[in-house]
Amino acid sequence: MTERSRPIGLFDSGIGGLTVARQVMRAMPHENIMYFGDTARVPYGSKSSETVTGYSLQAAAFLESLGVKMIIIACNTASAVALHHVRSAASVPVIGVIEPGARAAIDATKAGIIGVIGTEGTVRSEAYQKAIMERVPDARVHSRPCPVFVSLAEEGMSHHPATLIMTREYLAPMLSQSIDTLIMGCTHYPILAPSIGEVAGESVTLIDPGVATAEEAHRKLRDLDLLNDATSLPRHEFYLSDFPHKFIEVGERFLGHELHHVHRITLDELPHFS
Ligand code: DGL
Repeated sequence: MTERSRPIGLFDSGIGGLTVARQVMRAMPHENIMYFGDTARVPYGSKSSETVTGYSLQAAAFLESLGVKMIIIACNTASAVALHHVRSAASVPVIGVIEPGARAAIDATKAGIIGVIGTEGTVRSEAYQKAIMERVPDARVHSRPCPVFVSLAEEGMSHHPATLIMTREYLAPMLSQSIDTLIMGCTHYPILAPSIGEVAGESVTLIDPGVATAEEAHRKLRDLDLLNDATSLPRHEFYLSDFPHKFIEVGERFLGHELHHVHRITLDELPHFS
């Protein structure tokens, strides 16, 4: 295996990160990909930052043991609380979803009034807010956790009346603050974009941080001269710490195509950084 043909590693708390993997595959169709979903310990969104950091370090160590050339933290909560820990432990470049998502929102907003929806952990960390205000100090950021969205997305209820009701409930306070841009700051939320877009209205630009993250990963690999130049079909492998019910059905909906090469790795087998 050459340096360039080494895979890109992605990890998430479970299957949600497949929405990020989907964008990475779209932006870089020749890249080999190793995905780790911590389905035995999902959700990360309601756990303490110490716990999520510990899990994230293990996930990154596992991906490094597979020989990846870059790690993408395909989870908003893990990116929000663990990015710098993973960066200092890993020996390959590490990209999270927060910075690219925040930059995309800054590019999109006209009024500088941005909404952020995510898990409890992501909203509590204020990671998006900090990333935005560092660049645009007078921006106004309105955040809200939307925990029910995770179940609605996994149930495939992107157009369901129940999703519209919950979306109205969650978004009402930030819409009354006239946001013109909304960051869907959780891996599951892009699945609900039809309902979120309908409630938010045409004047609000929806940001899927996965799109900007894939572009950033592409730029970084190009700058490092590490883009895969092989033209053979890429290898996409998926490792899970548990096989939840309906994994294939939900996973394929999140990924946008069929899922093959799914493996189980038990928590005991996960390595630690030395
Ligand atoms: N993947 C998580 C995120 O993007 C959502 C699911 C969870 O809470 O673990 O924040």
